[in-house]
Amino acid sequence: MKASLQTEIEKVVGKIIAVEVLGEQGCTSEVCKLETAQGSFLLKRSFEKRYRMWLAEEAKVLKKLMQEKGIPVPQYYGFIEESDSSSLIMSFENGMTLTAALTSAESIAEKKVLIKSFGEFLHKFHEKEPLRMLVEESDWLERQLDKAQHYVDNGETEGSQELLNQLKAHKPFSVKQTMIHGDCTTDNVFVQDGEVRLFIDVAGMTVGDPRYDISLAISDFIDSPELLGAFYDGYTRYRVSPEEIQYFDGGLYEFF
Ligand SMILES: Nc1ncnc2c1ncn2[C@@H]1O[C@H](COP(=O)(O)OP(=O)(O)O)[C@@H](O)[C@H]1O
Ligand SMILES: [Mg+2]
Repeated sequence: MKASLQTEIEKVVGKIIAVEVLGEQGCTSEVCKLETAQGSFLLKRSFEKRYRMWLAEEAKVLKKLMQEKGIPVPQYYGFIEESDSSSLIMSFENGMTLTAALTSAESIAEKKVLIKSFGEFLHKFHEKEPLRMLVEESDWLERQLDKAQHYVDNGETEGSQELLNQLKAHKPFSVKQTMIHGDCTTDNVFVQDGEVRLFIDVAGMTVGDPRYDISLAISDFIDSPELLGAFYDGYTRYRVSPEEIQYFDGGLYEFF
């Protein structure tokens, strides 16, 4: 870490005593745990332009939610932009991602408990009255399709123009918009004391189509009727159809 960045970080968290690079890294960032006299913090850094933009979005969301006790996300501490990187500082949370928890679970029964708690957690979030500060005027799906077009135009995505044309031409019927996580895979929810309790990686958190969250949430265990059943034991407000899963997880998600 450059001295100038360390100085900026220490203005926020106090003198750094130890830095631990985490075993579980993300795809768009480098994460490490900072120990200071004030406690433990998570430092998330991105270097590529697109990922830096996402990190700035994440900082914006966490900052908005700082005073919101009702939405479980890490606490925001600071965001620092330098010429070659962006750095987000948030609270270090104990626990592990649901992906990691499922990998270390020793039985199907244990996995089912975890996945049901994920369903319940997401159900509660989607049922909440959307926070005014997360509501945007424009339509969520239109914004995603516009972003996808921008990524295609700039060669920044693996999704093709052909697929995007299909998504534009065959939009699903509309459902009530809710607060959504926006990248709701098992990688981006945190397990604490045996249940899913926290969202991480919240750049896409806004008001949008809850079927996007559900489709991504179940994608890791879609082929296991038992685990899928456990999810829907917790998430009882809606069940996505195969066509919706294809549109959101198989289609739209290709661009992000
Ligand atoms: N607030 C946090 N406290 C503890 N660990 C975290 C926190 N945020 C992220 N992590 C860890 O860092 C990893 C990557 O974080 P994530 O935000 O998902 O990055 P990416 O956007 O690159 O996917 C996670 O899998 C998790 O292990
Ligand atoms: Mg992630």
